[in-house]
Amino acid sequence: MVTSETIQVKKTSKSRLSEVDFDNIGFGQIISDHMLISDYKDGEWSNLHIEPFGDLSFSPTILALHYGQIVFEGMKAFRTKGGNVSLFRIEKHYERFIRSLERMCMPVMSYRQFEEGLVNLITLDQAWVPNGEGCALYLRPFAFASEERFGVKISSEYKYIVFSGPVGPYYSKPLRVKVEDHYVRAARGGTGSAKCAGNYGASFYPAHLAKMQGFDQVLWTDGSPELNIEESGTMNVMFVIDGVLVTPPLSDSILDGVTRDSFLTLAHELGIHTQQRSIGAVELESALQKNILQEAFGTGTAAVAGAIQSIDIKGKDYSIPVPGENGVMNRIKNLLTDIRTGKAPDKYNWNTIIKISQ
Ligand code: COI
Repeated sequence: MVTSETIQVKKTSKSRLSEVDFDNIGFGQIISDHMLISDYKDGEWSNLHIEPFGDLSFSPTILALHYGQIVFEGMKAFRTKGGNVSLFRIEKHYERFIRSLERMCMPVMSYRQFEEGLVNLITLDQAWVPNGEGCALYLRPFAFASEERFGVKISSEYKYIVFSGPVGPYYSKPLRVKVEDHYVRAARGGTGSAKCAGNYGASFYPAHLAKMQGFDQVLWTDGSPELNIEESGTMNVMFVIDGVLVTPPLSDSILDGVTRDSFLTLAHELGIHTQQRSIGAVELESALQKNILQEAFGTGTAAVAGAIQSIDIKGKDYSIPVPGENGVMNRIKNLLTDIRTGKAPDKYNWNTIIKISQ
């Protein structure tokens, strides 16, 4: 055991790094050497440590498996042009993690614990941070109820874990989506703005049905007669209508996306007019018919931005031009990439730089 200030570190005796083909990393399959773990018991988070990534064993009765107290984050670290590693918007991810934990009645942790854990883990596994275009080290912090008992209750014990893995681009082509007019992802007062596991599990069936109909994803609505658009698959959604970047306003049924927020900030910097307002299916269809819907795309940590090439509204399919290099989506995406990799100034203090000794 090596001690790094407050974190106990047990290093792997056999790194798996040399087995990885960094030219073909895909998304979500390759896991780095180590993981961070902490336990919550008797009212406090303790036993913060790093160990080799591996299986865990626990009782089939742990409460997370039955009543779903599970929340997670998705974050990215990038190789900078100087060879260091840059972790993107740790504070914003922390704030959302805390809000998700609170919504699911789970104990929060201090910013220091969150930050120290991530920085130590990334420092240890820094060789896993890829430097190919569109590539990053994806970090998955998550917490779940670990009390062993099957009576329905708020758990009194939890586990917090972070593992990571190198990832490449999420979508290989522009998406075909349909406005989902039957199922909803989230309702007012529900858990839609929390990054909790159940939101994803509940979205699979409608997404599966859409896939059977030839679509890649659904456009979620608020379930009202106006069918106000909320999200696109697992991403926030943005439209460019008559030169204006329009995105639905945050609510308790929309995830406060870190990429969404970054896109709005950078749009402002680039002089692109933005509106956070409701957009219903009728307005969307009218914009498509008048050819004033110039771009549509989703934003999220995994995909960064995923272009939408067609939208189906009640059985009518409308094509949308694929955003060009000088289009709104790509101008913002390119600036974001440059900030994260140190090619453009980090005016907003979004990057936590982890210095790597060469
Ligand atoms: C993200 O964009 O990070 C997501 O939430 C999608 C996913 C990989 C869960």
